[in-house]
Amino acid sequence: MGSRVFLVAAVLAMAVAAAGADVAADRAECSDKLVALATCLTFVQGQGQAPTPDCCGGLKTVLQTSPKCLCVLVKDRDDPGLDLKLNVTRALGLPAACSAPANISDCPRLLNLPPNSKDAEVFEQFAKQQAAQSSPSELTSPTI
Ligand SMILES: *[C@@H]1O[C@H](CO)[C@@H](O)[C@H](O)[C@H]1NC(C)=O
Ligand SMILES: *[C@@H]1O[C@H](CO)[C@@H](O)[C@H](O)[C@H]1NC(C)=O
Repeated sequence: MGSRVFLVAAVLAMAVAAAGADVAADRAECSDKLVALATCLTFVQGQGQAPTPDCCGGLKTVLQTSPKCLCVLVKDRDDPGLDLKLNVTRALGLPAACSAPANISDCPRLLNLPPNSKDAEVFEQFAKQQAAQSSPSELTSPTI
């Protein structure tokens, strides 16, 4: 599993040259950070009921130092060079699953994505879902 993430980090680093300035900088900043998320891959790829303590530890470090790196990982999930097959719900749900709060609706801003663009959509939709799920009124009042 570890070597897999080194591969991902390497591909991210190599892809830097080919990408635009913002994207290149994001990837360069995040390729080594994502190594800390090596132990999260099993969970975000759909296996296991919960992220491991190792994964959560790595995630907390990433969120504290470079919160945008989780956003970068999700945004680049369809990059043919990465072949990640992420479950977006699980990847963006990691902070909640690890009790390491992160504001997913900040991702488009952190990545300089235009609001309502196709790349921003996945984050906007997830944030909306999350808000609906965690809203107190949702829990206490039955739907009409
Ligand atoms: C992604 O994970 C969520 C939560 O575990 C699950 O409900 C969903 O079916 C998964 N989606 C895919 C495409 O596997
Ligand atoms: C999350 O980020 C969005 C967009 O930047 C902001 O409008 C919202 O207030 C933030 N929510 C929290 C809980 O920080």
